[in-house]
Amino acid sequence: MPAARNDLTIAEFTMDDYPVVHVLWQRCDLWMRLSDGPDPTLLKLTRDPGLFLVARDAGGCLVGTVMGGWDGRRAYVYHLAVLPERRRQGIADALMEELEERFRRLGALKAKTQILTDNESSRAFFSRRGYVREDFCEPWGKELAEGGAPPCR
Ligand SMILES: CC(C)(COP(=O)(O)OP(=O)(O)OC[C@H]1O[C@@H](n2cnc3c(N)ncnc32)[C@H](O)[C@@H]1OP(=O)(O)O)[C@@H](O)C(=O)NCCC(=O)NCCS
Repeated sequence: MPAARNDLTIAEFTMDDYPVVHVLWQRCDLWMRLSDGPDPTLLKLTRDPGLFLVARDAGGCLVGTVMGGWDGRRAYVYHLAVLPERRRQGIADALMEELEERFRRLGALKAKTQILTDNESSRAFFSRRGYVREDFCEPWGKELAEGGAPPCR
């Protein structure tokens, strides 16, 4: 059931949204990786149904996205993005309200996200929502497929 806030509707992503969402991510300068292709996106959707959300305005225009992950221990936030011309209107807040509520219903006790160190908007946004920088650990990773490292558009 989609959640409606004023002129905004938050709904679950379907693969029909993929072409528009992909363009939105590019317009928002998100790092695009192999995992953003159609097949990995379908895999993600199947793995975590109900955690990939899109925001639409009153005219039905897709204006924002957020992708949640839940592994049974931690909840993760990926690809929070709002069209540049629609920012500072509470769209990301509305997406995160809905996602965090869905995390809670699944039993999640903590949500995490990764923010590029020079992404001041995102730092300000997540800080205001109560997320804190955890400098007692650092993210480590290993590419498991060739061509997975960013930037790869
Ligand atoms: C980060 C982002 C998702 C925020 O989306 P948004 O819809 O503009 O955010 P909201 O309007 O819900 O902002 C809520 C609050 O967060 C804070 N905030 C958001 N953007 C901010 C900015 N650029 N500078 C300072 N504070 C900001 C403000 O406190 C804001 O409340 P206010 O407008 O009443 O002051 C958006 O800037 C974006 O898409 N950036 C590019 C993609 C990206 O970096 N995603 C994050 C990946 S980690």
